[in-house]
Amino acid sequence: MTPSLPNEAISHEGKPAVSQTHNAIKIVLAKGASTRPIKKDLKALGGHKFETYFYSVPIANETPLKALLASKKIKASLHDHFDPYFSMTQNQKLAADERQIVDSKEDSLQFGVRDLILEAAALEKEIKVRELKQDDQGVTEFRKKLEEKKTQLKSLQEEIEQRRNKARLFDEMESSDPLPAGFKFDKAGNLVYQEEGNGEEDPLPIFICSRLEIVACTRDENNQNHGKLLKFSDVDGHIHDWPMPMRLLAGSGIEYREFLMDSGLNIASGTKARNLLSRYLQACKPEARVRCVSKLGWHGELFVFPKETIGSHQKEEIRLQSDAPILPDFHTKGSLEDWRSHIALKAIGNSRLLFSLSIAFGPPLLHWCEIENGGFHWRGKSSRGKSTGSFVGNSVWGPPSLVQSWRSTANAIEATASTFNDGLLVLDEISLSDPATVGATAYSLSNGMGKGRAECRGYLRKRSFWRLLFLSNGEVSLPSHMLEAGRKSRAGQEIRILDIPSETGMHGFFENLHGMGSGKEFADLLKNLCSAYYGTAIREFLRRFQEKRSESVLFIKERIQRFVQKFVVANADGQIFRAATRFGLVAAAGELASSFGITGWPEGAATDAATVCFNVWLDARGGSGSKEELDIVTQVKRFFALHGSSRFSNWGEQDDKTVNRCGFKKIEMEETEFFVFPAAFKSEISSGFDPSHVAEVCIREGLIKPYSQRDKTHPIRIPGMKSTIRCYLFTEHVLGDER
Ligand SMILES: Nc1ncnc2c1ncn2[C@@H]1O[C@H](COP(=O)(O)OP(=O)(O)OP(=O)(O)O)[C@@H](O)[C@H]1O
Ligand SMILES: [Mg+2]
Repeated sequence: MTPSLPNEAISHEGKPAVSQTHNAIKIVLAKGASTRPIKKDLKALGGHKFETYFYSVPIANETPLKALLASKKIKASLHDHFDPYFSMTQNQKLAADERQIVDSKEDSLQFGVRDLILEAAALEKEIKVRELKQDDQGVTEFRKKLEEKKTQLKSLQEEIEQRRNKARLFDEMESSDPLPAGFKFDKAGNLVYQEEGNGEEDPLPIFICSRLEIVACTRDENNQNHGKLLKFSDVDGHIHDWPMPMRLLAGSGIEYREFLMDSGLNIASGTKARNLLSRYLQACKPEARVRCVSKLGWHGELFVFPKETIGSHQKEEIRLQSDAPILPDFHTKGSLEDWRSHIALKAIGNSRLLFSLSIAFGPPLLHWCEIENGGFHWRGKSSRGKSTGSFVGNSVWGPPSLVQSWRSTANAIEATASTFNDGLLVLDEISLSDPATVGATAYSLSNGMGKGRAECRGYLRKRSFWRLLFLSNGEVSLPSHMLEAGRKSRAGQEIRILDIPSETGMHGFFENLHGMGSGKEFADLLKNLCSAYYGTAIREFLRRFQEKRSESVLFIKERIQRFVQKFVVANADGQIFRAATRFGLVAAAGELASSFGITGWPEGAATDAATVCFNVWLDARGGSGSKEELDIVTQVKRFFALHGSSRFSNWGEQDDKTVNRCGFKKIEMEETEFFVFPAAFKSEISSGFDPSHVAEVCIREGLIKPYSQRDKTHPIRIPGMKSTIRCYLFTEHVLGDER
């Protein structure tokens, strides 16, 4: 550690000081002694203060120095050389100290690791012996001990890693730029401010925060949004770096302080120290430059994650600098091989799992293949594996904590979407969303654009944009959920979030349990595995895609086209084409990942899974006609099923007591006709749709008999009335099946 007491032999962690320079005398003051009375005289002798108790004076002035000390009765010892530690800068000293700690601790930690490994090996041997003896109790006991050793080993290894990180930080600090005037790191490494003294003793330094380095200046691709790259370590030695937008210094600074404190930086609470921190951030001018981007995902040929960038930096380093208070945590766990063998291979024979995983490889392709955003929704009974399927898809990207809940406001979901740009946004359980706003959220997620909002001063804030695929699930579909709030979904909303029945007819979400006893066991196993292995697959996918970008884009486009041609019939509605394109993209993304050797699936497996899912989606939708027209026919038929007897007066009946009458019913030659008043047609039968479109669809479907090619309504004279009125004439086909 740093020498702290006077009159001690100058040494560094017990090692003798090494004489290196001989051109100065080091004065070590005795405890309690002060140079205050001779400060000016010392300066006159070329004296230089290093620490509270240490001074140096050129060796040539040795005699007058001794005389001075004697005359003022100052107790001090003189050493006629410096050791290298004394000739170091403050940062160099800190780095040296930390390295020393790390080295010595690491040695003992490594010994600890070695011992634990030996002990674990001995325990394993013992377990084998007990197993042979069929000593079950002994086996259990030794297994328990082995588990304890393994836990100890893990925590020791983590400690080594943390110490290495800390040492790395200090090494970097050694080469960092000089600090602005008045700021320095004290012996403990804290950032302090040293105010100028009035010629007497220096005032006490003001503590600002724990160690905080400013390592580079940042700006975006348009040379806007300037910022600084901050680096610091938290109490556990984890290193954090954060590209801080400079605009956060414009106000009170509360936002940046909140972020730094959340990340583990210890910040002084006084106003003076806070202002000093802002001044420090403003005044540091490091030479290094970093290009910052405000969004995750593709930037040129690089793919940016919050803490890493995939692809090689050609000109300068690229980092994410976002205003979002919380960015998704895309870290990885386990190796790609682990992920493949434990998760991806279990999807084989499971159409929904294969499809969930294939969806996850789709989002980075949207940009290159010019495909619109969109989502899929697993709909089915409770406790059948829907959420599990979503977690499995999410494992391609990162930890389960990336999965978001529908239980958020529309604004919060938009804000989240903008932090998943070019990524997969998994939203769990649609029933938790607000049925009144969920339709609009589905639109905005797919349109990739947040609401325009005004900021506090009335200026328009920058809209947020995103490109992504989203994967939702729930017991109900989007339209049924919206109905709870009395809202009717539009065909446009339903095409944006494609509703796929999750039941396979075998084990809930699953078809093949890979040797597990039940769907429940398989689901529980998968959920555990998704917490153990994640994040590696997408990184490898992105690297391989970058290497073979043009071939991959051609591959995807060709596969989508093939999928669409195979499954979309010639007269199908435009919505089917859009949906098939999205299913085709998922099929192609899964095949591409397999061709890169990431999934371990046989060729064609992803396409087969997408085909199964497309067909069940189409069946549930009611075929390949226009969704809106299917909905119109359903609504009209439902109206007549509900009100066909009660709200129509019988033709010719004089004494009529029909409540809320909407027309007349005429039965002639066993054929029923309904004459509907235009007002009822518009406000009730066509509710939520354009009435003239409803009339057109009904005529085409044979539900309305038009009067002539030009007139859709019939002039009729109702018995008992003098004048004629115009009515729509509905045939008895309206009483057929709803769909
Ligand atoms: N196919 C299945 N068969 C039987 N039990 C299952 C099946 N899938 C999941 N489970 C059980 O249900 C639990 C919840 O699983 P999961 O969250 O995937 O279900 P879910 O379909 O999303 O249900 P919910 O609609 O209630 O959210 C699991 O922990 C498991 O015990
Ligand atoms: Mg669920």
